[in-house]
Amino acid sequence: MDVPARDVDAVILVGGKGTRLRPLTVSTPKPMLAVAGFPFLAHLLSRIKAAGINHVVLGTSFKAEVFEDYFGDGSELGLDIDYVVEETALGTGGAIRNVYDHLTHDTVVVFNGDVLGGTDIGDVIETHDNNDADVTMHLVRVPDPRAFGCVPTAADGRVQAFLEKTNDPPTDQINAGCYVFKREIIAGIPAGKVVSVERDVFPRLLEEGKRVYGHVDQAYWRDMGTPDDFVRGSSDLVRGIAPSPLLKGRTGESLVDPSAGVKDGVLLLGGTVVGRGSEIGAGCRLDDTVVFDGVTIEPGAIVSNSIISDGAHIGAGARISHCIIGEGAVIGARCELQAGMRVWPGVNLPDGGVRFSTDA
Ligand code: GDD
Ligand code: MG
Repeated sequence: MDVPARDVDAVILVGGKGTRLRPLTVSTPKPMLAVAGFPFLAHLLSRIKAAGINHVVLGTSFKAEVFEDYFGDGSELGLDIDYVVEETALGTGGAIRNVYDHLTHDTVVVFNGDVLGGTDIGDVIETHDNNDADVTMHLVRVPDPRAFGCVPTAADGRVQAFLEKTNDPPTDQINAGCYVFKREIIAGIPAGKVVSVERDVFPRLLEEGKRVYGHVDQAYWRDMGTPDDFVRGSSDLVRGIAPSPLLKGRTGESLVDPSAGVKDGVLLLGGTVVGRGSEIGAGCRLDDTVVFDGVTIEPGAIVSNSIISDGAHIGAGARISHCIIGEGAVIGARCELQAGMRVWPGVNLPDGGVRFSTDA
């Protein structure tokens, strides 16, 4: 046991469609994609458990059944997990309101289900308690805040505004996707309606003068919503740059499932992961790459900064950089693919037939 149990519920929002990660998310919801050998959500759940929180409610919608099939009642992780399904997606605020009847404590920590972080969850709760806040938001600074919720704060940490995805952000301080709520504030969100916590709930709470505070820190933080961030986050977990209780003592330059076959002379670099039953041929070089399960990569292929989905087949001498290869796709020998290409599941590219490289 890491810390004493807390009188706090955790809620994780996992109902999004993950469109920026297509085609990976055609069949698998974003939080269930394998990252460093586990579904992404397993890493978050293990951090929640390590913070002393035992009761977790998953707010699901898109492909809801996949979560319960994998995690069941949560007992294997030492957790008690409830599932609440939205028939049609209710948005982030509607999803939080929708789990209200399942809450058992007056303090509720809500997580976006696609954030890889190293923040001490207990510290965020402590900031909330110390300020007697209605809501406390975890905030981080990022180089480009435009893709996030921008959250300026006063010197005492009180939130001054919440500006979701604005082109002209007044600060580089953004919503990190983890909030502590007083339960009564959740009761005040309209029920059974589509509501955005970022665009509707937070601006309204600020207008009403509610006590909304920020908790800023410098811990590891990454939203896993884009292919580049997904690959980087996975590699950072493998290399121990991003922490996960599930990987304690197992971090290094690469992570290879024991059932995978990696031939001599293969270079696995930059936090590359090789999943169950995958076969990597002689002389391949894989850098900063996520290889899911049952993949075959023929000898001499060079793959970097890419995601290779279940059952894909990569031909000998192929070169793949910054791509997503969909489930069961076949990339012929000597094909060259790069710069954001996404090959859809089952697509078959003939040997030597595709060369999208801009190299000479
Ligand atoms: N249950 C449910 N229902 N969950 C949802 C819904 C819904 O209708 N819509 C989105 N979610 C979940 C997603 O599955 C994801 O885990 C989380 O809510 C956030 O959705 P994203 O689609 O990933 O949002 P974003 O990354 O563009 O922006 C959000 O996260 C940023 C930090 O990563 C916002 O909260 C930003 O303000 C924030 O900066
Ligand atoms: Mg996101």
